Amino acid sequence: MSAASIATAAYLVAALLFIFCLAGLSKHETARQGWTYGVAGMAVALAATIGLTVHDSSVRGTTVLILVAALVVGGAVGLWRARVVQMTGMPELIALLHSFVGLAAVLVGWASYIEVERNGLGDFTGSLLRIHHAEVFIGIFIGAVTLTGSVVANLKLSARIKSAPLVLPGKNVLNLAALVAFAVLTIVFVTHPSLWSIVAVTAVALLFGWHLVASIGGGDMPVVVSMLNSYSGWAAAAGGFLLGNDLLIVTGALVGSSGAYLSYIMCKAMNRSFFSVISGGFGIEAPSGGASGAEGEHRETFAEETAELLTRASRVVIAPGYGMAVAQAQYPVAELTRLLRERGVEVRFGIHPVAGRLPGHMNVLLAEAKVPYDIVLEMDEINDDFADTDVVLVIGANDTVNPSAADDPGSPIAGMPVLRVWEAAQVVVFKRSMASGYAGVQNPLFFRENTAMLFGDAKAGVDEIVGALAANRPAPVPA
Ligand code: TAP
Repeated sequence: MSAASIATAAYLVAALLFIFCLAGLSKHETARQGWTYGVAGMAVALAATIGLTVHDSSVRGTTVLILVAALVVGGAVGLWRARVVQMTGMPELIALLHSFVGLAAVLVGWASYIEVERNGLGDFTGSLLRIHHAEVFIGIFIGAVTLTGSVVANLKLSARIKSAPLVLPGKNVLNLAALVAFAVLTIVFVTHPSLWSIVAVTAVALLFGWHLVASIGGGDMPVVVSMLNSYSGWAAAAGGFLLGNDLLIVTGALVGSSGAYLSYIMCKAMNRSFFSVISGGFGIEAPSGGASGAEGEHRETFAEETAELLTRASRVVIAPGYGMAVAQAQYPVAELTRLLRERGVEVRFGIHPVAGRLPGHMNVLLAEAKVPYDIVLEMDEINDDFADTDVVLVIGANDTVNPSAADDPGSPIAGMPVLRVWEAAQVVVFKRSMASGYAGVQNPLFFRENTAMLFGDAKAGVDEIVGALAANRPAPVPA
């Protein structure tokens, strides 16, 4: 069997492993298994690519050395970043990784154009050559949009630039103009290929990607991250066409389509128009501010008092958010859950689809702390039960429990479904101050009569409650 056929078989195995990986990642119980398939698939793909390069007689030794060096350096940097990154820093790291895929697609497109200009494309002439030119152009466009879009997402997620949407005058016209310019430049390039068309489309796409993501507000960033994930997949697929690498085409298409589907699911969960979000907030008016200025009297509570409240409760719901991740409070939260269940209290979790900064962020943290899966419910599964709940503990959540999303049409998060925690008899909010959440909107929940604020780091607060409950354990029932 030739090296090429072995590599093709290996690519097929890798593609299947990637499909198993996606299937595994879709459920908590199989996520670890899915991850193992993904790592195995990538190992097979890398081994096959290196094997194929080594066996290619037209490839020089130095090229193989460069390939192995890139693999070692890239692998080492990846390992180091994965080890040191905090869970709260994952979204911006992912956005940065997407930008690398975009950059790679731009470089592959440029290299492919220069190579064909220099050496031609073998027997490819006429319409086949034009198809190749179109591939180069589209690949560069998608790659450059992904590159700057992901850099802006990284800056917004790491709070190095404002998360509020940039509203330039005529922003929709600017976006449309960029798309029209791309269409015109594509026709010009395919009929009369030239370096200046490549330079022009790269510049247009870089500006377009930057503007597209800068125009999207903080509350819609989750969709943007999964949308950029999808774009990076299509950019990789475009690179696969140019390099003639089937595995890159399949993998890129898998990432592209699963990212697009995730964006669609998230738009549905957040009651947003998919088209509007992927086109940089097309058709959305600038928010009027609405409830962002909500104010009033808030009531403060303390750990001892909350522990007492919990001992009298029979139904408790915990609504975790980004603050739980920051405080790393999932372990005491799991311990609190165990203690309350031991006392016969029904404890369940209500998870908002965009709580935290990553899809599934809260689920990962709770699974890590060994909270049983069957008491962790999605927003739609728990929302009707709040009215029958004695106590809700809001642990570091803010936007995802903000009533102004439902009550105030002028709010930047208007229309987004939220956890209706205020319908419970008592709500205790764990946070450090009265500051607003990610979307920058003040939360009228904090001023409701049945809400009490427990100020301080969420981990310290829950730890104190656990201590109070443990010190006051009910006597064991005599046999
Ligand atoms: P947020 O609205 O981000 O609010 C988190 C709250 O946690 C803050 O108000 C903060 O208040 C508090 N906090 C921070 N550190 C804390 C600590 N150590 N102890 C106690 N509290 C702490 O949270 P959320 O309700 O989870 O909403 C998520 C937001 O992020 C949404 O707007 C969503 O659109 C956006 N987003 C989500 C994603 C995904 S995919 N999930 C991606 C990007 C953006 P203090 O500062 O007063 O403590």
